[in-house]
Amino acid sequence: MLTLGILGSGSGSNMQAILDAVESGQLRARIALVLSDNPDAYILERAKRNGIPAELIDCAPHRTKFPEAIQRETAEKLKRAGVDLVCLAGFMRLVKSPILDVFPSKILNIHPSLLPAFPGIEAWKQALEAGVSETGVTVHEVDIGMDTGPVILQESVAIHSDDTPEILHARIQIVEHRLYPEAIALHAQRINL
Ligand code: GRF
Repeated sequence: MLTLGILGSGSGSNMQAILDAVESGQLRARIALVLSDNPDAYILERAKRNGIPAELIDCAPHRTKFPEAIQRETAEKLKRAGVDLVCLAGFMRLVKSPILDVFPSKILNIHPSLLPAFPGIEAWKQALEAGVSETGVTVHEVDIGMDTGPVILQESVAIHSDDTPEILHARIQIVEHRLYPEAIALHAQRINL
């Protein structure tokens, strides 16, 4: 059975969507481990409430850096839990070679824009500021860059003239929650997991 590990720094609504897809039988997988670099992230609470092992990746005192030694430990934890596909779901640190080397082509990320447009943080705000009429959602393989890597699935989301950042992000998240489980299933099938 496909065994997932999820890394997130925030509310974990994408983790919840993946779990819902697992529980409804839409996604044949199990979530073995949830990890967060943020001790206050609701994703940890959600995981525990659902009986999924959840742990903190303690990067203190580094605010944004993901030190190599901690990346190695993280990769080991995921391996020990039997994880064969890693899903980044709102994870705010850059994953580099200590994890990429252990999970080649086996780390996915979800990003709230039509990449390569608007990489980086708060992509929905970037789209609003750019004045474009549509943005979207991308699920892609993670490589050494930030929000680069081969695209697995993309879907566009319309921007309305009266959108606030909050309203647009909420509309994007509805698409994210449907697209991520689909992309996981598609990628797992392609690489024979
Ligand atoms: C999502 O919008 C995702 O695209 C971005 O961070 C957000 C995470 O949301 N990378 P959640 O924690 O899954 O609710």
